[in-house]
Amino acid sequence: MEEKYRILEDLLYFVPKPILTLAKKHMLFDLILDGQIQDSASLYEHVPEWMLAFQDADYSELAMSMLPILQPGTVVEIGCGQGDLMRRLASLGVKPVYGIDRSLGMVKAARKKLDEFKEVEVFHSRVEDFNFSPLGSLANVIMNNFWGLLPTNASFELLCRLKEHMEPNGKIAIGDCREKIKSDYVVEAERRAAEEMNFIISYPLFMDFEKCGYHSECVSLAGGEFIVLTLPRSTEG
Ligand SMILES: C[S@@+](CC[C@H](N)C(=O)[O-])C[C@H]1O[C@@H](n2cnc3c(N)ncnc32)[C@H](O)[C@@H]1O
Repeated sequence: MEEKYRILEDLLYFVPKPILTLAKKHMLFDLILDGQIQDSASLYEHVPEWMLAFQDADYSELAMSMLPILQPGTVVEIGCGQGDLMRRLASLGVKPVYGIDRSLGMVKAARKKLDEFKEVEVFHSRVEDFNFSPLGSLANVIMNNFWGLLPTNASFELLCRLKEHMEPNGKIAIGDCREKIKSDYVVEAERRAAEEMNFIISYPLFMDFEKCGYHSECVSLAGGEFIVLTLPRSTEG
């Protein structure tokens, strides 16, 4: 058991030590070892609100650098977590801003942080089950630190489904899409977690955007690499 805990600790090298200790104490590791959690997206569902304080990210630079590429109109962040990027965008006057997240802990934390803003709302849902229609047509969809949490099929289906809801000149920004450089021990931990525990920390990044009918462009934003997807211009008329 100790050996498997060590593999999970290696795998989650980016999580601060005190949080890992809490996660172990609150049996999150055991849920993985029991097969109840099979990927990191499901892991977030089990993270309670009080455990999230460490993830208070400062996205002010990212929000500023996004402003010039955003279209006027609705912004939706998929996998919005605690709403840190939404908060920065809303502070810059962007509205309406909607967030979707499958983790109730994240959603509760986000709602608290965003309480002061009008025309900002956070929905608790898996994006696979989310009905975008009530939001009207979407000018911008953002996925920040989200790509890789859905398996290939689900990534493909999401992009195809979004196409039906995008404004003709709408944009989807996905980042950070840089290949992560990992130490050998992390690569080994990922292999063993997949083979011995059936746990996937990250799926291969789905990058075949043309297959879904989008044009894609790589854009550098606040030191990260984002892919911006747009719909081909209609040749009719
Ligand atoms: C790494 S966090 C990123 C949070 C935020 N975007 C940020 O950059 O700070 C990924 C988030 O995606 C959410 N998530 C994972 N899979 C999801 C799904 N299928 N539908 C909706 N949210 C999901 C998780 O609950 C988590 O809050």
